[in-house]
Amino acid sequence: DIGQMPSKIVGRRQLTDEIVEFTINAPFIARSAKAGQFVRVLATEKGELIPLTLADWDADKGTIVLVIQGLGSSSNLINQMQEGDCFTAIAGPLGQPSHVKQHEEKRVVFAAGGVGLPAVHPIMRAHLELGNKVTLISGFRGIEQRFWTDEGDKVEVLRAQYGEQFEVIYASNDGSFGIKGFVTTPLEGMLENHRDGKGEPIAEVVTIGPPMMMRAVSDQTLGYKVPTVASLNAIMVDATGMCGACMVPVMENGKLVRKHACIDGPEIDSHIIDWDKLLPRFNQFKTQERRSQIKHKF
Ligand code: FES
Repeated sequence: DIGQMPSKIVGRRQLTDEIVEFTINAPFIARSAKAGQFVRVLATEKGELIPLTLADWDADKGTIVLVIQGLGSSSNLINQMQEGDCFTAIAGPLGQPSHVKQHEEKRVVFAAGGVGLPAVHPIMRAHLELGNKVTLISGFRGIEQRFWTDEGDKVEVLRAQYGEQFEVIYASNDGSFGIKGFVTTPLEGMLENHRDGKGEPIAEVVTIGPPMMMRAVSDQTLGYKVPTVASLNAIMVDATGMCGACMVPVMENGKLVRKHACIDGPEIDSHIIDWDKLLPRFNQFKTQERRSQIKHKF
């Protein structure tokens, strides 16, 4: 199998009450990772497999960074692990890398909600490295839930490095951090400008975050005909194309077909996704996750 086992935690940072950043020794993954790819993590023998988009990596040091929100029982367990502990197994990199290409005079906009921010981080960096102009709209519930936003931390490091090439807009639901609203709030103004030929046109929107948010972004950009991709790794189980858990109903050439988020994705053209059929799958998956003790062998 691909990946490293076991993988030692060499750094741990509590980002918020619920969110932990781990730096993990995984040289193979660190050397072969591409923006947008994910890994599947088995934290303990009896744990569940969790798919996580890579938040960062360092090929020289042989380390990867994962940011985990303790929501389900398994992610809570992972977040109790400490520096020096070992994950039973991490496999990857998995999935298709993001399509990152040069956009002359056009902007790439990232709409990230909560822990969608770590997932978009390597993709934004890849665009910036290519010379593309990037706007990040990073939404949090409130000031207590924000992370990576202080001077010297991930987002601000990119901002310091890329200057005007990289625009950052923070938003929070309650207005306690950045502008008040959802990621769709500032996005609306940008889309209007795009439509009216003001400012730079938008080449594409990349959205990663809670399913309802991704749908809202997708519906919004569809109205302005701006190409958009959503990252859908939240509904995966085995992440190998075998279990069928990650099926995404999409309309292709007038026909309803199914894509596997794990091997065709995690990024899928959000405008062809049948969101009415897809959204209930997220809830169904959560229930299954709670009930099941998935003991897949790596
Ligand atoms: Fe099992 Fe994709 S996660 S088929």
